[in-house]
Amino acid sequence: MGRIIYGDNLEVLQSLETESVDLIYIDPPFNTGKRQTRTRIRTIRDDRNGDRTGFQGRRYRTIKLSTSGYDDRFDDYLGFLEPRMLEAHRVLRSDGSFFLHVDYREVHYCKVMLDGIFGRASFLNEIIWAYDYGARSKSRWSAKHDNILWYAKNPDEYTFNFDEMDRIPYMAPGLVGKEKAARGKTPTDVWWHTIVAPNSKEKTGYATQKPLGVLTRIVRVHSNPGDLLLDFFAGSGTLGEAAGRLGRDFILIDNNPQAIAVITHRLREYGPELINCEQVLERLEVDDGAPWQARLLEPRGSREL
Ligand SMILES: C[S@@+](CC[C@H](N)C(=O)[O-])C[C@H]1O[C@@H](n2cnc3c(N)ncnc32)[C@H](O)[C@@H]1O
Repeated sequence: MGRIIYGDNLEVLQSLETESVDLIYIDPPFNTGKRQTRTRIRTIRDDRNGDRTGFQGRRYRTIKLSTSGYDDRFDDYLGFLEPRMLEAHRVLRSDGSFFLHVDYREVHYCKVMLDGIFGRASFLNEIIWAYDYGARSKSRWSAKHDNILWYAKNPDEYTFNFDEMDRIPYMAPGLVGKEKAARGKTPTDVWWHTIVAPNSKEKTGYATQKPLGVLTRIVRVHSNPGDLLLDFFAGSGTLGEAAGRLGRDFILIDNNPQAIAVITHRLREYGPELINCEQVLERLEVDDGAPWQARLLEPRGSREL
């Protein structure tokens, strides 16, 4: 099940059939103006040259295992996104849904652009994913949310499986009956969900990985088993994992070799087809960096697009 494709997403999108995909979720770089990186470290006991102090004052030396990342700087962000959004609209089935995950820096520009491509009537929700993690500003309200825009290609016909929603606790359970409180309530357009915790099992080590819980809710409610789902800014492949677990097919595209390595490993149990990946995986094999990179190399049989 599934396809993992290495390459620039515009070129790959152009090769996909018109109206062939049921659900698209994308989380492009946010145009933060920075390079997004994650560094993996290990510490070993070193009383003489240690750079950290641990339990009972013991000294430890830090060893950098690997750094992965990608550039998130665009002079013309909308100019980069627009041709890809036009292709997304083309490949989406007539009853399909499109989700764009961005943040406060670009969401208003993206909304105007997507209204132009899908039509204003096709805009159904702006979902706010709210979390609470990291430093707080002393000079403004700390931004602790992302924005997810939902468009239905046809606003009169789309999948919305209301009964598939997970339920959330009431804020004041004492105000509703016991039975209601136990059942919980359906979520609104504000989704409180923790980020991927640094020590969680879910963590792949890929910068900007999004929580499986958020993606699972989208996949459950907005698609059906057997549907084809597409993420053409796939990163660590979170959409693919939500799709695989829920019996949906998927296409994941990324142009970063490290992303391809992470996804290939993460989704190996679904036996995805690898396209254009051979070169990337071979290249990673000779890197002696992170153990996850070495482990990723098992799935083979990549073909060309
Ligand atoms: C914010 S990350 C996606 C994170 C992902 N949602 C996850 O949960 O791991 C954006 C990804 O887009 C990829 N990307 C950026 N430009 C691209 C392009 N032109 N074609 C394909 N992938 C691209 C980057 O390599 C990066 O992995």
